[in-house]
Amino acid sequence: MFSALSSVASSALQDTFGVDDVEVGWERPQDSAHGDIATPVCLQVAKAAGKNPREIAEALSSKIQEHESVLKTEVAGPGYINVWLTTAALLEALEVTQSSCTKKEPNGQKPVVVEYSGPNIAKPLGIHHILSTVVGQAIANIFEHQGYETVKVNHIGDWGTQFGKLFVAYKLWGQKPVEQHSIDDLLDLYVRFHDEAEQNDSLEDQARAAFAKLEQGDTEMKEFWQSSVDISMRELLAMYERLHVDITYQHAESLYEDMMAPIIEKGKADGVFIEGKEGALITEFPEETNMPPAIVLKADGATIYHTRDLATIRYRKDTFDPQSVYHVVDIAQQLYFQQLIAMGNMLWEDLPHWEHIIIGRMRFAEKGMSTRKGNIVRLEHVLDEAVDRAKGIIEDHGEKIQTDDVAALAEMMGVGSVAYGVLSQNRRMDMVFDWGKFLSFEGNSAPYIQYTHARARSVVSKAGGVGEAAYDGELSEKERGLINTLLKFDRVLHEACESKMPHVLANFLFELCQSFNTFYNDEPILKSEEPVRSLRVYLTNLTADVLRSGAALLTISVPDRM
Ligand code: ARG
Repeated sequence: MFSALSSVASSALQDTFGVDDVEVGWERPQDSAHGDIATPVCLQVAKAAGKNPREIAEALSSKIQEHESVLKTEVAGPGYINVWLTTAALLEALEVTQSSCTKKEPNGQKPVVVEYSGPNIAKPLGIHHILSTVVGQAIANIFEHQGYETVKVNHIGDWGTQFGKLFVAYKLWGQKPVEQHSIDDLLDLYVRFHDEAEQNDSLEDQARAAFAKLEQGDTEMKEFWQSSVDISMRELLAMYERLHVDITYQHAESLYEDMMAPIIEKGKADGVFIEGKEGALITEFPEETNMPPAIVLKADGATIYHTRDLATIRYRKDTFDPQSVYHVVDIAQQLYFQQLIAMGNMLWEDLPHWEHIIIGRMRFAEKGMSTRKGNIVRLEHVLDEAVDRAKGIIEDHGEKIQTDDVAALAEMMGVGSVAYGVLSQNRRMDMVFDWGKFLSFEGNSAPYIQYTHARARSVVSKAGGVGEAAYDGELSEKERGLINTLLKFDRVLHEACESKMPHVLANFLFELCQSFNTFYNDEPILKSEEPVRSLRVYLTNLTADVLRSGAALLTISVPDRM
């Protein structure tokens, strides 16, 4: 964006100090008292130039000063150059912010596969499922927004002994045809199985035998399996709709059933899979990796999680030819994925960049929400509670919150508060579930962003629309502050995308709300004189656009009025 100033600086460095080809980077000072942009370049080249950085900065600063988009410059600290831009230059730069509110043109590169959510079904979703689900969706949204073709895949766990357990429970205690069961009925059966299995060891054996029958293609088992998958999928898709999650491919684990045999043969032939103790087929890893061996085939010939995932990566490479594949999955599976990626790369040389995007654990700020044995905190119930709480907050605010549709606003606020509560935290760390924080009107929360958006939109609508910001007078401190925050948007999107860290975007939206609210509280907008009024309405509208677009990337909707 400031490439013109960068070239002024780099040619000055070349002409005056004889240092060639320096990339001059710009930072945005935390404190607006240090200018609109600043560069540390003089500190970086001091050695090569054989000069004191401040001396270089003095010379460079006066060159930069001459540029038409510069209001003034100053040399600060050990050799930083702080630059204040002209109003015209700042407003022109805001065009980039405006265009960052819409999706970039396709970049023409190979697609990116983002795999997320991936619940093990046959039982309802628990609150912890929200982590990979919304973090993955946000990462995929950001990729798409930045112009990447994005393949969104759900690696649903629809294969495993849980179906054997369910089948045994159904046979013993089921009261009606399978397809008439709700997800709650399935949960009851599942819980009962676990309770009774504590007294009765044979139940686990029966469950294993039932699952083995499924693997062998037994018709009764297959029908039962299909019905319970259908029941689960209905619940899953309803939950995704509520959370604004749209995953293109429901590629469940069962899809890969027939793709594993040739991979096993290849692994054996290449010596990647070897016979381990007790007849299992395993892979051993080089000593320095410190990884224990991984099993690909159990002694009884059963395939496992790793085997299926090897088929998965092969399938994704062959189907989508992606530039990269990201698994957005719990940190508990870190070693698992390290082994998997190592095995894949031992088997094949043509695999894309392949990475486990780590998600931390969920912790609860309040007592009574953690998972008890045989019992899960249902995601659906948590969302319902969030909506109830949001409704209570709306009612408590009386006239201060305005809406024609309390139920719709409560849904938007409640569901948004939980999703945003997760997305505003660093995904690699433990994430804390905290009602107080999630639903607060002041902190870094969905309601705060929704409220600020509505406030900005209402100013614009009272103003009767937005015009051009054709202003070249002096800017007030608050206007300058807001402009400089708005100017960060483009960079923030880039960073959130590169690092796959949605909280970078969330933190920025919070900062923008704060910056806007200080501006709003200190400067009259509608009551100010032209041309200042138009400038302020323009900034208000741009703030609303950025909030809406940024929030949408984080799966959050914002109301026009509230
Ligand atoms: N179903 C798995 C679980 O609930 C998560 C899926 C992770 N993805 C993968 N390709 N293994 O733990």
